Amino acid sequence: MHANNIHNGSYDFETLIKTHTPLENFVFVNNFSTKTIDFSNNLAVLHLNKALLKHYYQVTDWNIPNGYLCPPIPGRADYLHHIHDLLDTTKVIKGLDIGVGSNCIYPILASQLFDWKMVGADINETAVNSANENIATTKKLQENIEIRHQQLNANLFKGIINTNEYFDFTMCNPPFHSSEKEANTGSLRKVKNLDNQMSSKLNFGGQANELWCNGGEGLFIKRMIKQSCSFKKQVGWFTCLVSKSENLKNIYKQLTKAGATYKTIDMNQGNKKSRFVAWQFVD
Ligand SMILES: C[S@@+](CC[C@H](N)C(=O)[O-])C[C@H]1O[C@@H](n2cnc3c(N)ncnc32)[C@H](O)[C@@H]1O
Repeated sequence: MHANNIHNGSYDFETLIKTHTPLENFVFVNNFSTKTIDFSNNLAVLHLNKALLKHYYQVTDWNIPNGYLCPPIPGRADYLHHIHDLLDTTKVIKGLDIGVGSNCIYPILASQLFDWKMVGADINETAVNSANENIATTKKLQENIEIRHQQLNANLFKGIINTNEYFDFTMCNPPFHSSEKEANTGSLRKVKNLDNQMSSKLNFGGQANELWCNGGEGLFIKRMIKQSCSFKKQVGWFTCLVSKSENLKNIYKQLTKAGATYKTIDMNQGNKKSRFVAWQFVD
């Protein structure tokens, strides 16, 4: 984890339960005499998130519609801390999250961690409505965050970035699977890894649109790179998470073709390795 990430240590469940009592129902002591929750149980993760957002980020009433993606907060915060390292933060920072989701997690954390101004965009109407509901709960979120509805599936920046508008950075956690079947298999594997045994329940968070798109993350990022060329003067850094390292080779090829300068930032969260690619167009 990034050195500044407050989630570097293990969860302090005692304190978190004091902040958000319903979490108590999901905390148990495991075989290593450690307090934990069942991370494959969406309801348990939902209440852990509510507690974390209340305790560390002063967001008192965060929610997501049933079945929508329930994000692990430490990893989401990590991406923002690494973006922070790319920026000149002596001035007011304005960021854009492509695919903000119903959880609106990146704009919320960016607002509460750094007081950044954020725009969150999504194609999914339920996501847009739920993101707006999450913002409505807290005055500071209302001041810092705006949600915009992307009308065209094929577009990422067009229709969202206005003429003469400037963003210091864009970020994105793209839908990574290439089919619904692959998304289901991937989620089952995730539950299996967590439980260390095959689980019969497919209790993952995430609606189809959140988890997959035609061509998977490879094609999504290819589109993003191509479309970023039309906004090169309006964005300081374009960034995007890449969950499959085998996609990097093609991404580098596309970035070179587009004439962008780029770097890859590796992130380690426990035993999970992830990364994002950041690119810009310098004259
Ligand atoms: C993996 S989810 C990420 C949600 C949230 N940012 C998170 O990290 O938990 C991907 C999101 O991208 C959205 N999306 C897909 N295509 C899009 C597009 N062309 N423009 C904006 N959002 C899009 C989906 O609706 C979904 O909410």
